[in-house]
Amino acid sequence: MYTAVFVLTLVVLVSHVAQGLDNGLALKPTMGWLHWERFMCNIDCDTDPDNCISERLYMQMADVMVKEGWQDAGYEYVCIDDCWPSHQRDAQGRLQADPKRFPGGIKKLADYIHSKGLKLGIYGDVGTNTCAGYPGSLGYYETDAQTFADWGVDLLKFDGCYMNWTLLGEGYVNMSNALNRTGRSILYSCEWPLYEWPFHKPNYTAIRETCNHWRNFADVYDSWSSVKSILDWTASHQDIIVPSAGPGGWNDPDMLVIGNFGLSHDQQESQMAFWAIMAAPLLMSNDLRDICPRSKELLQNRHIIAISQDPLGKQGYRTAKVNSFEVWERPLSKKRLAVAVLNKQEIGGPRGLALSSVPGWKFCDPQCNVTQILPQYKEMGVQPLHSKLVVLVNPSGTVLLTVSPISSNFKSHHNLHWQDTSIKDKHSTIL
Ligand SMILES: *[C@@H]1O[C@H](CO)[C@@H](O)[C@H](O)[C@H]1NC(C)=O
Ligand SMILES: *[C@@H]1O[C@H](CO)[C@@H](O)[C@H](O)[C@H]1NC(C)=O
Ligand SMILES: *[C@@H]1O[C@H](CO)[C@@H](O)[C@H](O)[C@H]1NC(C)=O
Ligand SMILES: *[C@@H]1O[C@H](CO)[C@@H](O)[C@H](O)[C@H]1NC(C)=O
Repeated sequence: MYTAVFVLTLVVLVSHVAQGLDNGLALKPTMGWLHWERFMCNIDCDTDPDNCISERLYMQMADVMVKEGWQDAGYEYVCIDDCWPSHQRDAQGRLQADPKRFPGGIKKLADYIHSKGLKLGIYGDVGTNTCAGYPGSLGYYETDAQTFADWGVDLLKFDGCYMNWTLLGEGYVNMSNALNRTGRSILYSCEWPLYEWPFHKPNYTAIRETCNHWRNFADVYDSWSSVKSILDWTASHQDIIVPSAGPGGWNDPDMLVIGNFGLSHDQQESQMAFWAIMAAPLLMSNDLRDICPRSKELLQNRHIIAISQDPLGKQGYRTAKVNSFEVWERPLSKKRLAVAVLNKQEIGGPRGLALSSVPGWKFCDPQCNVTQILPQYKEMGVQPLHSKLVVLVNPSGTVLLTVSPISSNFKSHHNLHWQDTSIKDKHSTIL
């Protein structure tokens, strides 16, 4: 009944791949909160004091993160995006925060965030201006890196607007070196490939040596079509981008928009499941002061977070499109596997997919232990290769499972997996 529309043919090539950026950071995908998608460039503190980009917003978000279980769930970075600085540099040529919206300055805000046991992220741009028109760092990489270090900043999101694309790589590398020379460990989040793709296939070896994570594709919006477009882009470029992910460096499909306005609950579950499968940074952009309990429970789901943060550090990928389902898999530590089944038929009711028809299911030879993580946690017991299990998936929803082999002589993964290659010394790809 479920005929595989296609099954990828993979050939594993062995060659050298670079180490990740050696700053000891992002050994697991970064977790935190980032203001952009929800709060954008709202600088109107006179009429909208609760939602404008000001020190108050980050202090309140940090307070909630500690009080409401976010920090305990693993969310650590509180990140500022564009629109924080003054339009002018100071007399010494240094960036300065807008004095009206950040009266205490960034150093004091960093101290506050650190006093809560959290970390502070800030935003800059590799070109002459930020995307919203504030001062960019071109010509000031050393100065700006030192300023961020002096303030006690822990993460830099470095955008790519207003930059000659032929100099993008140089700019991102120079800033990476400047951050290193400050002696402070600052997680470096790049947008290098996003701005290079329109002109040139990016060099992911160089990017991995330079950055802790990197945006590849357009900004996420608060809509299912946006989330779907990110999944489609990722799957259609997985042969290029998946092998570059691993401890210290990750592909960044942009923020989690769970808890906002545009996604149904099933779609929120899909975003959470797939961001875990993709080993993506989990940077929420929402209002933690006012979030629906179901969204909060989903974002704090420890079983999904455990998949995201799995110590093997491999990114998952799409293995099949079957009858308007997509099946994605992520190899996990202890020879386990996470499997996500997405129902892309946006009409009708829940539809069933027989697990034995999933290409990766050969992994369960002779049998394995199956746990359903989404839509609700459920032990599904020991299943044989010819399991009769059928998962029911809502339209635009996802069933997320973990699968563990239970026999010591189980057959190794079929060749859809990069399980046997290590990002540190080998390079695998799809032909
Ligand atoms: C700077 O780079 C060197 C060499 O790659 C590394 O050993 C060191 O830890 C880095 N320092 C910081 C602060 O990132
Ligand atoms: C971009 O940089 C290249 C190389 O430095 C230069 O040849 C080119 O003229 C620049 N383009 C623009 C629009 O400035
Ligand atoms: C990067 O640094 C090199 C060496 O200092 C310099 O020649 C080059 O102009 C810099 N490029 C950019 C874009 O800052
Ligand atoms: C990509 O970057 C790496 C590391 O910087 C370099 O060794 C390699 O030659 C580059 N590859 C291409 C095709 O430019």
